[in-house]
Amino acid sequence: MKCFVEEKDAFSIKTECVIVGFFEDERNGLDGLDKRLEGRIERLFRRKEFFGEFGQVRLVNSEGLLPAENVLLVGLGKKSEGSFEKLRKASAASVRALRSLGVKNAATTLHSHLKNSAQAVVEGAVLANYQFVKYKTLNVEKLRFLEGLVLLAPSDKKAVEAGVHEGVVLAQAQCWVRDLVNAPGCELTPLAFAKAAKAIPSPVKVTVFDRKKLEELGMGGILAVSAGSVQEPQLVVVEYKNSSQAPIALVGKGVTFDSGGLSLKPAKYMEEMKSDMAGAAVVLGVVKAASELKLPVHVVAIAPLVENMPSGGAYRPGDVVKTFSGKTVEVLNTDAEGRVVLADALRFAEIKKPQAIIDLATLTGACVVALGKVAAGVIGTSQHVVDRLRRAGDEVGERLWQLPLYDEYSDMIKSEVADVKNIGSPDGEAGALTAAAFLKAFVEKTPWAHVDIAGPAWSSEEKLYTSKGGTGFGVRALVQMLREWR
Ligand code: BES
Ligand code: ZN
Ligand code: ZN
Repeated sequence: MKCFVEEKDAFSIKTECVIVGFFEDERNGLDGLDKRLEGRIERLFRRKEFFGEFGQVRLVNSEGLLPAENVLLVGLGKKSEGSFEKLRKASAASVRALRSLGVKNAATTLHSHLKNSAQAVVEGAVLANYQFVKYKTLNVEKLRFLEGLVLLAPSDKKAVEAGVHEGVVLAQAQCWVRDLVNAPGCELTPLAFAKAAKAIPSPVKVTVFDRKKLEELGMGGILAVSAGSVQEPQLVVVEYKNSSQAPIALVGKGVTFDSGGLSLKPAKYMEEMKSDMAGAAVVLGVVKAASELKLPVHVVAIAPLVENMPSGGAYRPGDVVKTFSGKTVEVLNTDAEGRVVLADALRFAEIKKPQAIIDLATLTGACVVALGKVAAGVIGTSQHVVDRLRRAGDEVGERLWQLPLYDEYSDMIKSEVADVKNIGSPDGEAGALTAAAFLKAFVEKTPWAHVDIAGPAWSSEEKLYTSKGGTGFGVRALVQMLREWR
């Protein structure tokens, strides 16, 4: 979808459909437009066919009274409850409505001339227009997408253009992440993922370590988890430097498929495990977006990429693994593999002497039990970093909820035979928290926060700006955090 800005208004734009928002409790700017439409909108309100309820949509044919063929009314809810997130959702609702009607080109007035709202409108629109269609061969001609969206800016064209640019970059980075998450495990192997990383254009610098190099470095965690797979492990490092400061390190779990290994998952839980590399995709997407937006930051993303499979060569429960830091891990459940590969990657991040380390991972089912799919869990040694993440997330409609990191959770991962074991209690008590306590053991002194995105990384329903499958959750929050970083 192409997004444009034009110095026209709803009265002068010639298009298939012009999108206009209405509050439930205030008839804003209706007069002029409805006069042109000879009271058609007012009649809908009077007959209670449309009342501006949040997310409600109603198409009105303009019957030649306007250059636009149709007007799409979109409910914005109560004016006092307005937010950028609501705008993002209202924009998404309108794009979904237009797609189902088969409309190809539209113009919108939802942003009301402000940069940040133009950004939100574009994000909602681009994200709602997304669908993973790569493998569809039947009835592809019936797939419907919006092809062009004009943001009307009779004044303040510059501000709207700036917002459109940011919105397009962010939403496209998020769609890039969705494509990776939705790609099946047979296609998106660690090697294929590394290839996708290498395609990120300069000035982003991409380095890939292969198995031989990982062996030389002593990345025992990554090697152990990937041992059961015929797919070679990779470690991808992606750097964008546009500041003289020490970097902010982002670490993302990149398990391209998680069968559970010898501690095999039941079929029901294995179904969506091609998404277990969402953390890695998000941290790369963030660097890509930061570079395209030319943010004045120094950021490095680190993604350990493996496939977790059972086989004669697989790592086993009871194995002891020596990680990159030298610390040893007793593996008691091969399905708790994310933390084992992150152990190596966190240590690798710390060597770069970053200001802070933030990891993103589809780490635990327990976090999904605790928070559902509507928020990520965030846990860290640095309240400062946790607060920045939470604030950034709130600003862009991605919720992060803090969970505790009590010392008792670290006690629960003490091992009899190694330094730590990779699960707490076998019955899963405090699963998300003992997982975080495990990661904490591999960060020595750098301020650190861990974001468990197991819930929000994947959606089982198609809703507003969320599509079925990979969501790209985390891209907007992390870019926002980088933007606000001082
Ligand atoms: N990739 C899973 C976590 C997950 C679950 C992600 C559901 C997305 C949706 C992870 O590797 C895993 O299997 N964790 C286990 C840990 C347990 C064995 C200690 C879990 O959460 O059950
Ligand atoms: Zn697992
Ligand atoms: Zn996993």
